[in-house]
Amino acid sequence: MAGESFVLKGNICWSSSKTEVECVEGGCAVCAGGTCAGVWEAAELPDVYAGLPLIDCGDALVVPGMSDIHVHAPQYTFRGLGMDRELLDWLNAYTFPEEARYRDLDYAERAYTVFVDDLRRSATCRAVVFGTIHVPATKVLMNKLEATGLVSYVGKVNMDRNSPLSLVETSQASAAATRRWLDDVIGRYERTAPILTPRFTPSVTDGLMKDLGWIREEFDVPVQSHLSENLSEVKWVGELCPWASCYGEAYNFFGLLGPRTVMAHCVYSTDDEVELLRRTGTYVAHCPQSNTQLASGIAPIRRYLDEGLSVGLGSDVAGGASLSMWRAMSDAVAASKLRWRLVDQALAPLTWQEAFWLATVGGGSFFGFVGKFEEGYEFDALVVDDSALAGPRDLLPLERLERCVHLGSEGARLTRKYVAGRLIDLA
Ligand code: GUN
Ligand code: FE
Repeated sequence: MAGESFVLKGNICWSSSKTEVECVEGGCAVCAGGTCAGVWEAAELPDVYAGLPLIDCGDALVVPGMSDIHVHAPQYTFRGLGMDRELLDWLNAYTFPEEARYRDLDYAERAYTVFVDDLRRSATCRAVVFGTIHVPATKVLMNKLEATGLVSYVGKVNMDRNSPLSLVETSQASAAATRRWLDDVIGRYERTAPILTPRFTPSVTDGLMKDLGWIREEFDVPVQSHLSENLSEVKWVGELCPWASCYGEAYNFFGLLGPRTVMAHCVYSTDDEVELLRRTGTYVAHCPQSNTQLASGIAPIRRYLDEGLSVGLGSDVAGGASLSMWRAMSDAVAASKLRWRLVDQALAPLTWQEAFWLATVGGGSFFGFVGKFEEGYEFDALVVDDSALAGPRDLLPLERLERCVHLGSEGARLTRKYVAGRLIDLA
């Protein structure tokens, strides 16, 4: 992903550790061929970079791009609607009927245009995306995402049981379509790649899971799914897979967990399941807005961080209504406070700095060296004009960033956005 070389001058802020955000006021972040070369005080910029084009962002904040590691593109059409049910009823009442529409390529074209345009203008630089079971519609989504310059993993969904007739495949057809799709799209794009996407255990038979395990190995692709989101779901999986020692084992048995797998939610993971996630290096996508709106529960993210699990944030549209990663950060902090107050005072609430780390480094690391302004990291950057949030009192850049975390979706205007060194069109 060769990109441009240039210098961004502004208030450069990034996570120097899980708990600390560093800021160089009026500093220079150097992008060399799409990769970050480092951050310097303006007066200390090394001579080798002095000749590069310099983009002066004035008093703006310059922060790493954000990664949304769990979002359903086809559900963007009904975001903010039908938020009155729990997961399994919500899927049957709203989600499955909507996703069935994507058999119609014309509908998919129109719907995905809106989703991709909004994602392009958002703070999200990289995303891990669910499509639907339909291969043609999923290719439309991939083509559109590629055209934006964002980096994404996109999944054709697999579903061969407990699904309506309008949104189900036979086991063999599902595996065969997945193979053909992978043959078609692997290596076709610069910034878009396929990800295996068994919807969740209730929608996928053990037979198809087994095939997907083979396919994962054969094509060497990442995996995404849902895990331990809702109490009725967890109970149902216990009935569907009595052989599995925990819900996570129903994926792990088929080789579907690992450092290239994202499991959304993990609200009700047992001790054994947490240990399985840790041992396999599986990513947890924390989706606080969805967990709240679907009344699923509150995931113990503090515990996952303490125990060394890999964690990032997801919007989980349309379980969550908002695509905004600012909103996801604020919701992660708020949810952790409620958990601390109501559930478990042994787990301290998340700080805004930790939420910022989750949105940038935590999720970004699923894509490689992503989410920091440090040498060797891919250069994903947001130039943020927060003047709409200004008051009578001058705030430090870190205070302004803290305010963006909580108010960004209403007052942080992006003036520039770079992904792997490429300037993204925000129009
Ligand atoms: N579990 C299975 N499918 C879905 C989905 O579309 N959204 C959420 N939040 N959970 C799921
Ligand atoms: Fe989801």
